[in-house]
Amino acid sequence: MSTTPHSSTPEEGATGVLFVCLGNICRSPLAEGVFIHLARERGVLDLFEVDSCGTGRWHVGKRADPRSLEVAERNGVHLPSIARQVEPRRDFERFEWLIAMDRSNRNHLLDAGAPEGRVHLLRAFDPELRGASEGELDVPDPYWDDDGFERVFEMVRAGCGGLLERLTR
Ligand code: 4NP
Repeated sequence: MSTTPHSSTPEEGATGVLFVCLGNICRSPLAEGVFIHLARERGVLDLFEVDSCGTGRWHVGKRADPRSLEVAERNGVHLPSIARQVEPRRDFERFEWLIAMDRSNRNHLLDAGAPEGRVHLLRAFDPELRGASEGELDVPDPYWDDDGFERVFEMVRAGCGGLLERLTR
């Protein structure tokens, strides 16, 4: 969840984009921060309301994992997220784009009643992965793997770039 609002306020009718992972401390805060960064760079941040959440509740109230904060900072990206758990009814109404980091997150959203047409895997927007099978589209959970964060950052950057392209076409 973002507590620090973007420096600009979303316009009335802004498109809601919600990034979802398991803990909301590693992957989805990165995706939220990178998407905000890219949208701001392109001058279109006002068109979006951006947030992230987790399907689990273990880390509610925490900032992003230090390893996510570190890789983001090294790439000039600020991560505003404070972890929160998905709120199905409210989130599925408010956010038109529910962007899951992996198939397990996506299945959780669908089981919780998310409209199927709103739920997508982030890496499905990576232009390099067009035609890839679904099994190749997970952003792997880096929580137990100190070496995974750099790779996750690159996956998130490519996915967010493609998503932004898709939403501003
Ligand atoms: P995330 O990573 O889903 O990318 O935030 C995880 C963070 C914490 C845990 C699992 C995944 N956990 O089991 O506490």
